[in-house]
This record gives sequence, structure tokens and C-alpha cells, in this order.
Amino acid sequence: MHIDLKDRIVLVTGAASGIGRASALAAHGCGARVIVADKTFHEAAQISSGLAGSVAVGFDVTDERQVAQEVSRIEDDIGPIDGLVHAAGVLQRPLPPHQLTMREWDIVNQVDFRGSYIVAANVGSLMAKRGAGSIVLVASVGGLCSGRLHAYNPAKAAVLSMTQNLAAEWGRSGVRVNAVSPGFTETPALDRGIKSGIMNSAAMTSATAMGRLLTVDEVSAPIVFLLSDLSSGMTGGNVLVDAGYLAASGWSGFGGVPSGQQST
Ligand SMILES: NC(=O)c1ccc[n+]([C@@H]2O[C@H](COP(=O)([O-])OP(=O)(O)OC[C@H]3O[C@@H](n4cnc5c(N)ncnc54)[C@H](O)[C@@H]3O)[C@@H](O)[C@H]2O)c1
Repeated sequence: MHIDLKDRIVLVTGAASGIGRASALAAHGCGARVIVADKTFHEAAQISSGLAGSVAVGFDVTDERQVAQEVSRIEDDIGPIDGLVHAAGVLQRPLPPHQLTMREWDIVNQVDFRGSYIVAANVGSLMAKRGAGSIVLVASVGGLCSGRLHAYNPAKAAVLSMTQNLAAEWGRSGVRVNAVSPGFTETPALDRGIKSGIMNSAAMTSATAMGRLLTVDEVSAPIVFLLSDLSSGMTGGNVLVDAGYLAASGWSGFGGVPSGQQST
């Protein structure tokens, strides 16, 4: 059994970096024709130049007019979109409410919540008309638990709700909608947070059951599975890829999870 996306047209947003880039590479590796989308055409073109048969597009996911235009241009020029990976997103600085400005709160919600809906609604509506398609929204484990991310976590919880709403909306029209919720993943975005001192690598790793961060390939693997027919019975679901962050979250009251040496 292997993941086969041969001849499928797969649109990946946020594909110039991190989880989106890894998803574009993985979908390409499974035989898909990948549409590499990011904020600017230049960033997208750099990635697509290394992927035979792929095409680059530049659009801002928060701009509904641009998204609608580009999606219909892709469908006219290249063909019907079979799969969508929506990985465009921004992280947030962990701040208490009195320091989190509404400007930052709005940006996070614009991109992570509103942008997810704009892209999914535009692509999914066309898929539903044709009666086929698979959508994967990149959410976050933060949407399932609390933390000092007063804009990001609620935005990601909204993406999980959106996943279920759209799955039910289009279930009988042949469109599946699922989410993947990563934990702390080694991406340029997380790297910037660590280098600037906003995020603490040791604190993040010790909070997981497995004692480590995730690689982007560990996140893109379930994403291509959800795009493929191997997941044909799944819709409205959320695949957690968090190195056991959620599983370990109740252990701080017991001194943390065991170190790995046999405990007596
Ligand atoms: N890295 C993590 O630890 C982690 C954990 C959980 C969830 N996520 C989610 O994964 C997704 C990808 O994050 P990443 O860590 O790979 O980040 P990243 O910064 O490495 O990649 C994100 C990409 O999205 C693009 N993008 C941002 N805003 C955009 C916009 N308005 N329009 C179009 N493109 C835009 C960026 O240009 C960038 O190429 C995000 O939704 C993030 O919330 C990341």
C-alpha cells in the first residue's frame, strides 16, 4: 500500500516555507502536480523551480478577491484542483493580554482564521460542484489546549470547528475536509521565535511525551495521506501530530513524564 497522488492537481498554500513547503515536496513525491502558492510569487517560484511540473502562484490568503481570482485562474489554465493543503499561517508571540495589542490579535486572526476560510470556501465550493476533492487544513495542538497564545489558540480552535462545518457541508458532494494539528515543529517560523528568545527550545521539548520537536516531514506525511484515497472514509477529522504534547500535559503535577530510563 502506498500513497498515490498521480496526476492529481494539489494546491498548497504557505508552500514557500516550513510545513507548507514539506507538504508540496511530499505531494510532488507522491506523483501530484503541485501548485506552489505563497504570499509573493517570487517566494513560491523558488520552490516550484525545483519541482518538475509544478506551477507557482502568489496570493495573500487574507485577500478574498485575490484568492478567488487566482483559484479560478489555476482551474482555467491548469485544471480542476483535486487536493488543497492550506498551510499558510503565522505564529504568535506568547504575551499576557495586557501586552498583546489588538493589532497583533487581528493579524493572527486575519491570517490563521479568516484566511483559512477564504481559501477553503473558494476551493471547496468548486470541488463540491464537481463532486470530488480533499482538503487538509493545518490547525495546531494549540487549538485543543490552553497556553499564552490568546489570539493564536482560539484562531486554531476555530479552524478545527471550520473543518467539521465544511466536512458536513460538502460530505455528500464528495469533498472531504480534515485537519492536521501539529505540535512544536522545526520550521523557519519556530526557529525565528527560538533565535529571538521568545520561544524556549528546552521548555518546548520537555513538554512533550517524546522529549523532542517534530520535523516537517513528520507533519507532511499525514497530510499527503489525508489527500489520498487511502483516507477515503475520513472527513471532519483532526490528526494530532504533536510528539505527545497533549498526552503529557497532565504530568507536570507528577514531576513530568519519565526520563526514559526504566522507572522503578
Ligand atoms: N511550526 C510550528 O511549530 C507549528 C505548530 C503548529 C501549527 N503550525 C501551523 O503550521 C502552518 C505553517 O507554519 P510554519 O511553522 O511552517 O510557518 P512558516 O513561516 O515556516 O511558513 C508559513 C508560510 O505561510 C506564508 N504565509 C504567511 N502569511 C500568508 C498570507 N497572508 N498569505 C499567503 N501566505 C502566507 C509565509 O510566507 C510562509 O511561507 C501555520 O498555520 C502554523 O500555524 C506550526
